[in-house]
Amino acid sequence: MTREVWNTRVGFILAAVGSAVGLGNIWRFSYAAYENGGGVFLIPYFIALLTAGIPLMILEFGMGSKFRGAAPMAFKRAKKSFEFIGWWGVIASFIITTYYSVIMGWSLVYLVKAFNLGWGSDTEAFFNEALLEVSNSPWNFSGFAPSVLAGLVGVWFLIWIIEKKGVQKGIERANKIFMPLLWLLLIVLVFRAITLPGALAGIEWYLKPDFSKLTDLGVWQAAYAQAFYSLSLGMAIMITYSSYLPKKSDVVNNAFIVSLADGAFSFTMGFVVFGTLGYMAFAQGVGIQEVVKQGIGLAFVVLPAALNMLPGLKVLTAVAFFLSISVAALSSLISLVEAFASALMDKFEMKRSRAVNLTIAASFLCSLVYATRAGIYWLDIVDHFINSYGLMIVGILEAVAIGWIFGADKIREWANSYSDIKAGAWWDISIKVVLPIVLIYLVFNDTRTNLAEAYGGYEPAALLVGAGVIVLGMIISVLLPFIKKEVE
Ligand code: PFF
Repeated sequence: MTREVWNTRVGFILAAVGSAVGLGNIWRFSYAAYENGGGVFLIPYFIALLTAGIPLMILEFGMGSKFRGAAPMAFKRAKKSFEFIGWWGVIASFIITTYYSVIMGWSLVYLVKAFNLGWGSDTEAFFNEALLEVSNSPWNFSGFAPSVLAGLVGVWFLIWIIEKKGVQKGIERANKIFMPLLWLLLIVLVFRAITLPGALAGIEWYLKPDFSKLTDLGVWQAAYAQAFYSLSLGMAIMITYSSYLPKKSDVVNNAFIVSLADGAFSFTMGFVVFGTLGYMAFAQGVGIQEVVKQGIGLAFVVLPAALNMLPGLKVLTAVAFFLSISVAALSSLISLVEAFASALMDKFEMKRSRAVNLTIAASFLCSLVYATRAGIYWLDIVDHFINSYGLMIVGILEAVAIGWIFGADKIREWANSYSDIKAGAWWDISIKVVLPIVLIYLVFNDTRTNLAEAYGGYEPAALLVGAGVIVLGMIISVLLPFIKKEVE
């Protein structure tokens, strides 16, 4: 089978940026910056980007374009026994897809509600009671929450429409529309946010430099973790996308463009989030720290409340905000689904239509768990474990297998062959030394915390199920290489 290719270089870059810019940029970055020294966080973040994010991006783009296969095939072509590494990336992507789609489903519901600010004045009650209808325990599934289910069906339908059309006519074309739209929405939102009264005070909180934080190891840890997550690395995604590059493609410069664009998006979104929070604190006459919330609560509880209070253009701003979350999530989801579907196409020589239908049917069925009334508990638990043991472990294995065993220099030579900027010896050091040290430290630290305290106060049985999903995924990835092609 001939491999599909991107139509243009710009198309590839837009799709890769579309994958990188996602839910992680909208709430994760601003909160991480706020918690870890404000403006000073930009220093460790930038260093993380340069010493680990961009080098790993070059490695993944290099591998994809050299071996021209989805992650399992690319690793297999480097060395037969490496195939399982690719599968772990693919399966981790699959697990993330199952709940990331549900969060996008919520945001579609909010997008519809935005037209009349239909979440009402008590946004917390709307989120927990009207939308999620949260039950009292992870074991009390109590059937589906109907609005979540409706949003989820909408999400999978959109993904199916785009994915079945293939690389050029589906993914590339969609991102050529989504990315300019997303950046336009970002500009609109920034202008709206910074012109609000009190916005500057919020932005000051976001960027106020606290230099003492630079000696805090936790801050560096947060910066590296944010860089990997946000760049979609270690998830089989960037290998898959770059496997559709034509032979003579720039690798190094593309990796810089994609990574810096992703960082720029996060940084700018911080102005929207903190400008709006600044206004909210101003309108209520309270301090910023009283309105800041992390994660899901920020996007779906606090910001809708802030939107309710806007002095004007409420509906327009609300629609722009939830449209931007939806578009950012959709373009990332497409890349997560493509990583899995493409691996099926390679391994079993399946046609795209069949691989896409299978991937979407399986992901949709699994995602239904999170559309039940206990869904949020499971989403929280699985997200927690996959963040520690998904991309981090793949990253470590990539550094060892490709950096040390296959040879970082071989990938560097390949990556440099058609690139405007050349990667120097610094790149080998990043891949072989910095990357494994940082990632092993992060995994070690997370494991220590997991063992010391029950995450989120959940009962051990629920945490065991969550961790079990991850272990099962790992076992499957080790077994898959033994299956020989038997379909079609
Ligand atoms: N990079 C995207 C984000 O920041 O939301 C999507 C994503 C990919 C998230 C891979 C998490 C992940 F492990």
